[in-house]
Amino acid sequence: MEKVRLTREKATLLITLYAKAEESRMPDSLLQDHYAAGAVARIDYDFSSLGMRRDEMIGLAMRAYTLDAWVREFIAAHPGATVLHLGCGMDSRVFRVDPPPGVNWFDVDYPDVIDLRRALYPPRSGYEMVGAPMSDLGWLSGIPTDKPVLVVAEGLFLYLSEDEVLPLLRTVTTQFPSGEVAFDAYSRMGLALASRNRMFRATGAVMRWSLDNPLDLEAQVPGLRLRDEQWVYEESDGRQWARYTWPARAAVWLMRRVRPLRRLGRLVRYRY
Ligand SMILES: C[S@@+](CC[C@H](N)C(=O)[O-])C[C@H]1O[C@@H](n2cnc3c(N)ncnc32)[C@H](O)[C@@H]1O
Repeated sequence: MEKVRLTREKATLLITLYAKAEESRMPDSLLQDHYAAGAVARIDYDFSSLGMRRDEMIGLAMRAYTLDAWVREFIAAHPGATVLHLGCGMDSRVFRVDPPPGVNWFDVDYPDVIDLRRALYPPRSGYEMVGAPMSDLGWLSGIPTDKPVLVVAEGLFLYLSEDEVLPLLRTVTTQFPSGEVAFDAYSRMGLALASRNRMFRATGAVMRWSLDNPLDLEAQVPGLRLRDEQWVYEESDGRQWARYTWPARAAVWLMRRVRPLRRLGRLVRYRY
């Protein structure tokens, strides 16, 4: 068993990991993240103390599922791509997506998070883990610049300051010839609501960066062009919502119809 002493934004990885693990144990699982379940079983932590609700597990699995789909799409179009998975936590995206041998995949998070990751997940070819805070972009200079680069960050940017998000994105768009950036973004109201969530409050993490209008980022990061934006809970066939409890279904129904509510949380993808 691996002991964990994670605090603040690092501790939030336990929430997303547990959500993915538990959702994957449901008979109608969307994400099927069996690596997450394996990691949870090896971490010495009382996950039940999170008090996570089933609806929250499904919601976080949906967010991860859409980002996985975007990653798969990018890799299919660019089989020799580089993937920079930032704020990876214990997420097993590299195993879920299982990229072909031509892809170079880097999972990046704080050094102590990466230490835990190394203890829990096996190595694989074309895959590297990098321990670095997002305030120090030195590691980026070691990434080959001759391939299209996908940056994917799930549940990360909201914990960074604007002074960290913008230099990171500007460095990516200037250093690499072309690629995409995909992440979840929250309006100011969305961030205020999310920071009141009891599980996140218990970690002591501070949520900082919001994005009211995804087009604003185009002006702030030269070269970035919005390709897609999707409501966090969007799905084409309603099958996931049918798994929700009725109060959560009612909330989703309302959010779907009221525009400012739809903007609380989105998945965005940009090209450069
Ligand atoms: C909510 S967790 C998400 C983890 C993973 N992406 C997932 O979806 O399961 C946030 C992650 O961002 C990482 N993180 C937050 N701020 C960071 C920073 N300044 N530098 C590096 N990693 C950071 C945390 O350590 C944590 O692993």
